[in-house]
Amino acid sequence: MITLCHIDEIEEGRSKGFEVLNKYLFAVKKDGRLHLYYNYCPHLGTPLEWQEDQFLDSDGALIQCSTHGALFLIENGQCILGPCKGKRLKAIPFVLGNGFMMVEEADVSTLGRL
Ligand code: FES
Repeated sequence: MITLCHIDEIEEGRSKGFEVLNKYLFAVKKDGRLHLYYNYCPHLGTPLEWQEDQFLDSDGALIQCSTHGALFLIENGQCILGPCKGKRLKAIPFVLGNGFMMVEEADVSTLGRL
């Protein structure tokens, strides 16, 4: 297991990026629930964030790719607007233990192109 962060390090309605095994992931907390995705836009494979830890649109309602503005649902990663409409961000399974968010090494090391 690889520990990403304590759940309190991500505020409600905010996002946080991680580098794990040379792969990029990000988490979003919405309505008290955490969601974890591979930081890889299904359009061209670029990282999504605008700036460090900034993965959401201006009102924090959707995930937005900074390259061409594609919008994704926070709950399931589905692209609802933009050049990759209908595709999804890859969700990464995680577990919570003692307040920490953790991932299996194998779930990260096998990430490649979508
Ligand atoms: S690379 Fe993300 S919308 Fe084009």
